[in-house]
Amino acid sequence: MVAASRSSHSGLKKVLGPMDLIMMGIGAIIGTGIFVLTGAGAVTAGPSLTLSFIVGAFACGFAALCYAEFASTVPVAGSIYTYSYATLGELVAWIIGWDLLLEYGLATSAVSAGWSGYFQSLIGGLGYHLPDALSAAPGAKAGVTTYFNLPAFCIMMILTFMLSLGVRESARINNVMVAIKVGVVLLFIVVGAKHVRPENWQPFMPFGASGMMSAAALVFFSFIGFDAVTSAAEEVKRPERDLPIGIIGSLALCTVLYVVVSAIMTGIVPFAEFKNNIDHPVSLALEVAKENWFAGFVSLGAILGMTTVILVMAYGQTRIIFAMSRDGLLPARLSKVHPKYGTPFFATWMVGIIFALLGALVPLDVLGELVNMGTLAAFCLVSVAVIVLRKKRPDLHRAFRCPGVPVIPALAVIFCATLMSFLSKTTWIAFLVWLVIGLVVYFGYARHRSALNNAAKEAPAVAS
Ligand code: ALA
Repeated sequence: MVAASRSSHSGLKKVLGPMDLIMMGIGAIIGTGIFVLTGAGAVTAGPSLTLSFIVGAFACGFAALCYAEFASTVPVAGSIYTYSYATLGELVAWIIGWDLLLEYGLATSAVSAGWSGYFQSLIGGLGYHLPDALSAAPGAKAGVTTYFNLPAFCIMMILTFMLSLGVRESARINNVMVAIKVGVVLLFIVVGAKHVRPENWQPFMPFGASGMMSAAALVFFSFIGFDAVTSAAEEVKRPERDLPIGIIGSLALCTVLYVVVSAIMTGIVPFAEFKNNIDHPVSLALEVAKENWFAGFVSLGAILGMTTVILVMAYGQTRIIFAMSRDGLLPARLSKVHPKYGTPFFATWMVGIIFALLGALVPLDVLGELVNMGTLAAFCLVSVAVIVLRKKRPDLHRAFRCPGVPVIPALAVIFCATLMSFLSKTTWIAFLVWLVIGLVVYFGYARHRSALNNAAKEAPAVAS
């Protein structure tokens, strides 16, 4: 496992530096959350959507500090899954890994559905329309019969193809797209600020604190992704220094952008008007301001923005599967590295096809809530683990130490658990079912094939 993976020359190439990581973080963070879910968020919270973003940022910020400690301690592929394996044992690692599979996988599906909405609005402006049946998942549009979200499926297939060809190429394309994405967000801020009418910010909290918190539980999705940076650990040149820079840097930058964008959006458009137009709220704000040209640019940037999110999340997903497979918990084929491209080729295609189908067949809001639930649960586990490990293994070398332990991890748990309590009952049930399936797979399959269980003498191989 961890020690083994350090010396076993897994075959993944070390090519990424701190700027690549910040770009990768932003690539994963800014996407469907800000470009699509802000519409539903504004309807739920009114102008206090800005506060919802701040609550989400605190939850993620505290969790990010815990994540950074994990990531900088055991810089091998597979994100916090690997670290929890080394320090907390296989069962906890399995639960976290299983949880992350839900987060990363369904996030790619959800973002592909958001991508499809902006794509269709853009080509709609040019006079092209898809048949209704192929425009969305079944049940996604009230009063319209839909079967399959074709654009969502296609974009997933194209990106899967790119990822399967290698990380260097993907990271380079990612950097260009991130620059464009941040560019259009800044463009929105500069153009939109002139059209803000402060009276639209009154009443600031039309649905009270509970509306604001429900929106926070939803737009939390906008922050998901900074942890994808940790899953690239094995391909980073100096992980101890670069990973915390990548995680915290990208999170801080995005928070500032989100708060400003949501303030401007709700300042231009009275919040209730988002009700009927929630699939492209950011460009809608510019259309309302009669800045149609800029609205087109923003739509284009949103499409590129969401493309990078899918790319980074899909990348993270395959690396977690890679690590779980290498530890024997998933079939060995999933950690086979392609001799020419240096990527987990089979795993990349398998995951790509499964989550492309889910994105095409399940509505965005259902996917989004589930992703938030899986992520918040993983954040809680990680934060608790930081406290436990400081007690259990004070000797462990930590290149980055989370400040203020146990207060910061405890705050992370409080914030995340509170947000979870604002998610729907259906989401809770689906999440618990996913966990039970995970435990059945673990006790029925993974445990017996675990590399650690089959080679007990490797057990003390804890990084220190
Ligand atoms: N944070 C990512 C997004 O908003 C998942 O699309």
